[in-house]
Order: sequence, then C-alpha cells, then structure tokens
Amino acid sequence: MGKIISIINQKGGVGKTTSAINIAASLAVAERQTLLIDFDPQGNATSGLGIQAANLGEKTVYEALIGQIPLEEIVVETELPGLFVAPANQNLSGAEVELVGAIAREQKLLRAIEAVRHKFHYILIDCPPSLGLLTINALTASDSYLVPMQCEYFSLEGLSQLVSTAGLIQGALNPKLELEGILLTMFDSRNNLAHQVMDEVRKHFGDKLFNTVIPRNVKLSEAPSHGKPILLYDIESKGARSYLEATKEIIERNLPKQPRPGVTNMSPSATV
Ligand SMILES: Nc1ncnc2c1ncn2[C@@H]1O[C@H](COP(=O)(O)OP(=O)(O)OP(=O)(O)O)[C@@H](O)[C@H]1O
Ligand SMILES: [Mg+2]
Repeated sequence: MGKIISIINQKGGVGKTTSAINIAASLAVAERQTLLIDFDPQGNATSGLGIQAANLGEKTVYEALIGQIPLEEIVVETELPGLFVAPANQNLSGAEVELVGAIAREQKLLRAIEAVRHKFHYILIDCPPSLGLLTINALTASDSYLVPMQCEYFSLEGLSQLVSTAGLIQGALNPKLELEGILLTMFDSRNNLAHQVMDEVRKHFGDKLFNTVIPRNVKLSEAPSHGKPILLYDIESKGARSYLEATKEIIERNLPKQPRPGVTNMSPSATV
C-alpha cells in the first residue's frame, strides 16, 4: 500500500509545490512509483510538470473529488518514468464551497484515493496555502504530513498553528496521521536569522527536522517554466542535489523496521 504524504503549509509561497514536484520526481528516479496529486486550484504542480490546464476538460482532481469520475481515470503520465500526476485547475476552488453541506465532506479525497493506492509506493498531495476544507481532506487521507518552511520569524507561529490543526484532525478524523518532517526551503546560510529559526525548529521538533536543507537556487525557480522537475532540467544544480538528499531521508525513514539484534527468526529461510 502506498504511503500518502501531504505537503502542507498555510503560508503562501514557501516552496510546497517546488518540494512536492521535486520530491515526487526524486522518488520516481529511486524506482518508487509515485503519484503527485495537485490539490491546489492554482494548478501549479500540474503546469510545473508541463501539463496544460486548458487541455484537461473534465478530467481533473475536482471531478474525482466529487465522485463524478474515478481518480484512476484522471491520472496522467509525465515525462519521467514512474511519476504520475492527478492534475487540477481552478475548478477545484468550487469544491471548498460545494462540499460544505456534503455528508462526510472531510473524507472525499480519502475515498477517491482508496482504489488507486495499491498501485503506488508513494502518493504526495500538494496542498493550497490555507487550512480550509481541501487541506483538511488532504490530512484526513494522509499517513503523514511534510511541512516545507522558509526561515523567517513568522514561520514559527505558522508552524505551531499548523501542528495544532493537524493534531485536531488526528484526534477527530485520522488517528494514524503523523508529522513526516519539516523541510527548510530557500535557505540562505549567510543569514543569521535563518540559523536562529533552524535552531528553534530543532529544539522543538528534534529529528523531525530534515538534516537536508534546500538552498535558494535559481534553477529550481526556472524549471517549472520549462514544465520539468529539476532532475530533468539541471541534475547538476544544488537544487537537484538537495531534493535528492531530502528524498533519500524520506525513503530511509520509511524503510521497514529491521529486527532487533539477537532476535532470531523462527524459520532459517525467513527473509525480512
Ligand atoms: N529553493 C528555491 N530557490 C529559489 N526559488 C524557489 C525555491 N523554492 C521555491 N522557489 C520559488 O518560490 C516561489 C514559491 O514557491 P512554490 O510555488 O513552490 O511555493 P508554494 O508554497 O507552493 O506556493 P503557494 O502557497 O502559492 O502554493 C516560486 O516562484 C518558486 O519557483
Ligand atoms: Mg503551491
């Protein structure tokens, strides 16, 4: 069963979509079949992977979310083998209002994903910059959430609000939800405040802070205008290397647990 990770931060422009696209691409390169669900009416993950919103017709995440069409039928391939996208466009903005009166409105995405989950190792959900119904649907459907964050003073306040919202959803709707990690983005190592914010996050979140930081790198901002993940745009760039490193951390954190030393298997031929 695929692991479902929401990429979330209610603050805008912190690198959610850039992280979602490039972690998804790095997972695919590591031979993990990966689905990126664009769950933002801005459709940035869709266009950033070279898919034209105008050509989508009624085959978007919106139609899958309201149950009009199975999610499987809207999924499209990308240029990168192993990377698939469930595209979105501005239709999705209607869902926030239309679902308000619906039964089990928080579980719509969960229901839509159920039938495709076994086909992927990872499913990433690129969330919009709010803690509204779309993000609540994403968190309800997820095993974990990953928070890209810029090292600014107000980021810390936003982070505690986000973690408490996730706690409410965990308590009421999705007991298995956990924090995958916090990923510092657009990091400028010459900036003192950036280091202070990093220390503060480490103090509160310990090893949930990724060891890898994503530097500010112009190649990362250019790649979407070419409709490519950074790995296909400039694999030698610092941006590409940092997302590969961060993805390695995700894969390592999610490896099946090894048995403790000294605990032997019942059968000599058993493999773990
Ligand atoms: N590491 C980076 N270096 C340089 N530019 C970056 C980096 N990460 C993101 N950007 C740029 O910053 C802008 C915001 O990034 P992005 O769209 O990923 O953020 P977001 O959190 O998804 O935004 P929104 O909240 O609007 O969905 C984009 O123009 C993107 O190209
Ligand atoms: Mg975005």
